[in-house]
Amino acid sequence: MSEAKLEAWLDETRSFAPSPEFARQANAQPSIYAEASADPVAWWRLQADRLTWTTSPTQTLEWDLPFAKWFSDGTLNASYNCVDRHVEAGRGDKVAYHWVGDAEGETRTITYAQLQKLVAQAANALSELGVKTGDRVAVYMPMIPEAVVTMLAIVRLGAVHSVVFAGFSADALSSRILDSDCQFVVTADGAYRRGSASPLKPAVDEALESCPNVKAVLVVKRTNGDVNWVEGRDHWWHETVERQNDVHTCESFPAEHTMFIMYTSGTTAKPKGIFHTTGGYLTQCATTYNYVFDIKPESDVCWTAADIGWITGHSYIVYGPLINGVTQVMYEGLPDSGGKDRWWKIIEQNKVSILYTAPTTIRTLMKWGDQFPKDHDLTSLRLLGTVGEPINPEAWMWYREHIGSNRCPIVDTWWQTETGAIMVSPLPGITATKPGAAMRPLPGIGVDVVDNNGDSVGNGEGGYLVITHPWPSMTRGIYGDPERFKETYWSRFPGKYFAGDGAKRDEDGDLWLLGRIDDVMNISGHRLSTTEVEHALVGHPAVAEAAVVGASDETTGQAIVAFVTLKMSADDAGKDYGPVIEELRLHVAKVISPIAKPRQIILTPDLPKTRSGKIMRRLLRDVAENRQLGDVTTLTDPTVVNMIAGLMETNASGED
Ligand code: PRX
Repeated sequence: MSEAKLEAWLDETRSFAPSPEFARQANAQPSIYAEASADPVAWWRLQADRLTWTTSPTQTLEWDLPFAKWFSDGTLNASYNCVDRHVEAGRGDKVAYHWVGDAEGETRTITYAQLQKLVAQAANALSELGVKTGDRVAVYMPMIPEAVVTMLAIVRLGAVHSVVFAGFSADALSSRILDSDCQFVVTADGAYRRGSASPLKPAVDEALESCPNVKAVLVVKRTNGDVNWVEGRDHWWHETVERQNDVHTCESFPAEHTMFIMYTSGTTAKPKGIFHTTGGYLTQCATTYNYVFDIKPESDVCWTAADIGWITGHSYIVYGPLINGVTQVMYEGLPDSGGKDRWWKIIEQNKVSILYTAPTTIRTLMKWGDQFPKDHDLTSLRLLGTVGEPINPEAWMWYREHIGSNRCPIVDTWWQTETGAIMVSPLPGITATKPGAAMRPLPGIGVDVVDNNGDSVGNGEGGYLVITHPWPSMTRGIYGDPERFKETYWSRFPGKYFAGDGAKRDEDGDLWLLGRIDDVMNISGHRLSTTEVEHALVGHPAVAEAAVVGASDETTGQAIVAFVTLKMSADDAGKDYGPVIEELRLHVAKVISPIAKPRQIILTPDLPKTRSGKIMRRLLRDVAENRQLGDVTTLTDPTVVNMIAGLMETNASGED
């Protein structure tokens, strides 16, 4: 959203009071913010008691900036906390997941007792394949129950999962496997999307050509497609897991034991292996899930419509909800698998009460029209959430009116792969909400908006979002690269965590997140770096140079626009470049993922550069967003940028 538009919304000071339906939360927690801010560390220690510890921690925070330890002398097992303890408490018959397949009518219901057995069998199978405490295991799976079972089985053994989104390419998978030296991979033969099967195993086979250390691959049969099989390395899930004992006695691990790695894009071409440890991560997942969604485990049906390949899936499809013992919906397909009203059918059929999703999906559903939700009974809904990118007030209001019947509060939750769990969000019974604002840091979290010098800005002013003190689920670092961790997050404003986001405090002091201020793009809530896409483009033999920017897009938040100069010869004059552009788009999809395909590729004979040879991305962003060009005086050849602007106008090729 443009600054001017945001200002207009702020001027209206549209605000919704805390919802009376959430009075229980308000009555029970009148002073939650005050209590937490009086002594955040002590407050988090109290929250840690939501977990079942084998050894209860006496240590709280040990802070050696930027390295934190939380609850370090405590021991626990993550999988026990998610599953076994509910069964032991007599809640084994409660449904953990109503799984809904891509095809209508395909469902599976899994209780906590059944989940316990599935996880035990998978843990026994992984042990048999040689997985030991501390080993890294790559998970490259569709949204099927076995994906959750696999994650829980891995952490049960004290091993470390690295879930790679199944939409990523073989190259992206192999670089992630190599970076953290994963020796095991769990995958499926294929996945279903809108009724058709798409293979996954070939990408694993291709990736493993460059990963000689991988000893075993466990493969779920999902689509029954033909697969290439490497004897001795590949093992079918149904042959290996299903014959195992369904009891597994778990060990406990120290709170600071590494639990998982999640790769995410930074400002360079190489994704960062963000890793999280056990006790602090689980404490904050459990606490935030409980407070932000004000869950009622006895009656709620919660649906986090995300993929387990992203941090949202980790924290709010797997760990946070399971620790709280709620019933969830897990959905395999796309929003329009089986029709544009598929989501609303799922809500109606499963009586979903809490829906949590990304603004880009809300905008897509909104574009499809009001009739689809109107045709379904959505009265079971009582709370709506959003995550992943700034939500524009128009989409927020549509979500409120058409999905939440002007009755359900909306929690706009800001957080990151690095923060592990929600950091900024309204609390439905306690805080007011405003369309487009994430409002306030959660209890126990310190957030500020600062100017270039690191000084707090006043109300009504904008700046950079920083986190002012350590929190339990903060990443413990970048796998294998502590220096990069310091440099990326802790050097811009000494002593403070630099999130990479712009933010603004409105006149009431409430927080509005304004998007990334670095070279990280946010495409449909997926994080990609401009450099990553540039590297993919210059890796193509026809490309001489490439500059990539994120331009604002009505549906996807941002979209990728690439400016490319080709290696040309004299014979190329007058050639039809349409096929070249399409080939380049497919090339990026193959090297990274289809989500990284540029919306537009502009072929240009030159790129705007400063006298020191730096590409002026700022100007290209102005061009891509049709804005008045900023200062061009530092360019070697100021005419280049005007020429590109002209090309942009005449060249609309490459759009889907
Ligand atoms: O720019 C912010 C945006 O998503 C980035 C984090 O991306 P990722 O690590 O992939 O995690 C996404 C899911 C937690 C942030 O730096 N972002 C996330 N939530 C919001 C948001 N921007 C605005 N409002 C949000 N609620």
